[in-house]
Amino acid sequence: MKLLFLLGLIAACSAIPRQQRKFPDDFLFGTATASYQIEGAWNEDGKGENIWDHMTHTNPTVIKDVSNGDVATDSYHNYKRDVEMMRELGLDAYRFSLSWSRILPSGFTNEVNQAGVDFYNNYINEMLKYNIKPMVTLYHWDLPQKLQELGGFMNPMVSDWFEDYARLAYQLFGDRVKLWITFNEPREVCYQGYGYNTKAPILNATGIGEYICAKHLVIAHAKAYHAYDKDFRPSQGGVCGYTTNLHSFEPLTDSAEDTYATELRKQTDWAIYTDPIYSEEGGFPKDLVAIVAAKSAEQGYPRSRLPELTEEEKAYVRGTYDFFGVNHYSAYLVSATEHKLEQAVPSMYDDIDVGWTVDEAWPVSASTWLRLAPNSLLNVLLDLQSRYNNPVIYVTENGWSQTLEAGLMDEDRVRYYNAKLEECLDALDAGVRLKGYMAWSLMDNFEWMQGYTERFGLYEVDLTSPERTRTPRLSAFMYKHVITSRSVDQEYRPQTMTMTIDEGH
Ligand SMILES: *[C@@H]1O[C@H](CO)[C@@H](O)[C@H](O)[C@H]1NC(C)=O
Repeated sequence: MKLLFLLGLIAACSAIPRQQRKFPDDFLFGTATASYQIEGAWNEDGKGENIWDHMTHTNPTVIKDVSNGDVATDSYHNYKRDVEMMRELGLDAYRFSLSWSRILPSGFTNEVNQAGVDFYNNYINEMLKYNIKPMVTLYHWDLPQKLQELGGFMNPMVSDWFEDYARLAYQLFGDRVKLWITFNEPREVCYQGYGYNTKAPILNATGIGEYICAKHLVIAHAKAYHAYDKDFRPSQGGVCGYTTNLHSFEPLTDSAEDTYATELRKQTDWAIYTDPIYSEEGGFPKDLVAIVAAKSAEQGYPRSRLPELTEEEKAYVRGTYDFFGVNHYSAYLVSATEHKLEQAVPSMYDDIDVGWTVDEAWPVSASTWLRLAPNSLLNVLLDLQSRYNNPVIYVTENGWSQTLEAGLMDEDRVRYYNAKLEECLDALDAGVRLKGYMAWSLMDNFEWMQGYTERFGLYEVDLTSPERTRTPRLSAFMYKHVITSRSVDQEYRPQTMTMTIDEGH
């Protein structure tokens, strides 16, 4: 009797959410996707070839399952179902990217592909019908192949090409799109694509490509921002930001050496792309500039492999933001002396010469690089708050991968989302100006070099069915409950796995 009473008491207590903290009513909950990962229709209705089409067709074995985005989730034809899923979840916003070569087949604005423009108009209008705010990324890695053949991000003219494309997008869609992001994840563009070989165009120009790209990319961002600020914001009234991928980097020990090593790792992985825009002084991070200059001289290069921004460029790039977009997934522990891997010479990681590791106790996802580390997102948000004078922040991606075999009952993903959403509430409590959160991803999609082997979707996608049938996972119900209740309840489980559209959506 006594025991039963005690058990009942425990059950009653655990049914009460740990905390009743709420997200503000105007906080934007959404999900995110990217054009190449979902659209398919790679050569339909006048779309031009982009660098992912080109790489997966000419070099198919670089993709783990030798797949590509030719059809993907076929959102080009299934966009109404996509919006129906957004309504099922009750989303406030939806982040997606425009395919540059679908709108401009050659990359240049001399020829506009009307069918591509129509597709985005339809997608946007369908969202707006249901009060879902579009958040549009201009560049999520799918450069028109013709521009790659002209050097892509190695060519300083890329900033003009990007500005032309951005202006056209503002002109075409800016009457309805009020949330713009210029670039998604500059490190993945520059380091992985040019300095290494883990994203298109797999240049592997180690220690050189990533640095040249960084300079051209931040200038391209600034040109697109100034264009919006000067010529479109007065009539359209939206905001324009820039999205960077930030893992949490913490020192392995409290030593001054490990703390400095951690700062260097932050400088190579994100601050090289964000200090020029968000820091008070502007320009690339000073330590990195000095290290690369010294190493380059030692190695016999006539000038630093990291081309500096001129004073004029620094001033032009500095302050070109309305918000900071944070993509966040995982965490690393950094050491000045331990866990060093052999690095190519020259290369960015040879330049900084630090080691890193993880805590094996952190649960790992289907992606080797993605673990559930305590407070990883909170650390990142607090770091940005202090480094950049408390900017407005949107979490523009955050999510967890599983294999397809994991099925619909994705408890690991639910655990991850609940933990990271609690950290968002912690950040709000700490005064971080966090305005929204976009879960990655609305549905399973083409996970770049991993093909379809790693699944990030709130909705599972059946790639064997012609309709690419989408089915909600447990995490979809959990996220819907967060959006509806504006709070996190670790204990919440749906009564059925049947999704409906609530009134008002
Ligand atoms: C990439 O370049 C480095 C030299 O910087 C070389 O050691 C490595 O083998 C290259 N990798 C590939 C796959 O080409």
